[in-house]
Amino acid sequence: MARVFNFSAGPSVLPEEVLKIAAGEMLDYQGTGTSVMEMSHRSNAFIAIAKDAETLLRELMEIPENYKVLFVQGGASTQFAMTALNLMGRSESKTAEFVNTGMWSKKAISEAKRFGEVKIIATSEDKNFSYIPELTKDMFDPKASYVHITANNTIFGTRYRELPDTGDVPLVTDMSSSILSERYDVTKFGLIYAGAQKNMGPAGVTTVIIREDLIGREFDITPTMLKYKIHAENESMYNTPPCYSLYIMKLVFDWLKNKGGVAAIQKINEDKAAILYDFLDKSKLFKGTVEPKFRSLMNVPFVLPSEDLNGAFIKQATAVGLINLKGHKSVGGMRASIYNAMPVDGVKKLVEFMKEFESKNG
Ligand SMILES: Cc1ncc(COP(=O)(O)O)c(C=O)c1O
Repeated sequence: MARVFNFSAGPSVLPEEVLKIAAGEMLDYQGTGTSVMEMSHRSNAFIAIAKDAETLLRELMEIPENYKVLFVQGGASTQFAMTALNLMGRSESKTAEFVNTGMWSKKAISEAKRFGEVKIIATSEDKNFSYIPELTKDMFDPKASYVHITANNTIFGTRYRELPDTGDVPLVTDMSSSILSERYDVTKFGLIYAGAQKNMGPAGVTTVIIREDLIGREFDITPTMLKYKIHAENESMYNTPPCYSLYIMKLVFDWLKNKGGVAAIQKINEDKAAILYDFLDKSKLFKGTVEPKFRSLMNVPFVLPSEDLNGAFIKQATAVGLINLKGHKSVGGMRASIYNAMPVDGVKKLVEFMKEFESKNG
């Protein structure tokens, strides 16, 4: 067996321990004689899996009682519309405020525009989204339905170090690429959403954490499947959930809990990211593209001085088992996604390889 180090931005590396458990339980899940893929979602065995997933996530993120945890489908991209449909419907202003930190924010903005007024209160577009704009409380309209941010921009590799103070206006956050990678105080958010396929499990399931008082504010036209209220009332079982994805997610949560939880993984993530950023800061050939203060712990974009060198680096890295390092076209160069499940050894091997590449091409 030859496992490689997979730096994909998503779907991405999963803990090997989790994959081994899933392989062992593939044909017979805990004496049921069936795979989880073959089970009714109404069976006791599956209901226990779904409940465990929620309990573990509540524990890992210290989610207070007055928040609902929903597991839905459609990816984070569906949440761009769902947040607007559900949070603007009953508010007086029908205005949502956005901070534009690059492509994922832009997509959320364009969906929200279909349903109400959108105000972009700050943007980092002037420097190709290489930083997070400064935000002060007076920038937010106290009458807005909600304020939306992207906690970690997967493409540009930027991360909020501090959350904006939006007063009483609910803070809605796309946490797709940083959920469970560092500690977040859930009470600071009205709603958090995240696709699973980076730090939580395989694609197909999307987590929504919503403060209860924000449920039931949807427009009347909101389709049934897009109402948070329906998913909350039916404990995310209104229709058939993505059963297998939820099962793997539950195993990932178990794995994270056994590693010591979010505080422990945050320390590991900080150390892991530092190995790469320290090298980038010293290198004369490679260059990080993000202002140091806003560097992501999860996605590290970097460039070489020419397209030829970028291409050669990616090709040679792939040949030694360091895969999926090609950057997004809006930044170019390379991007190393180093999610929770990326072992420290993967980052060390990458840096070793970068040093070697520099000594040959510098
Ligand atoms: C920050 C962020 N938001 C949203 C998305 C879109 O997620 P999905 O593919 O689950 O719709 C991604 C995907 O990579 C992302 O990184």
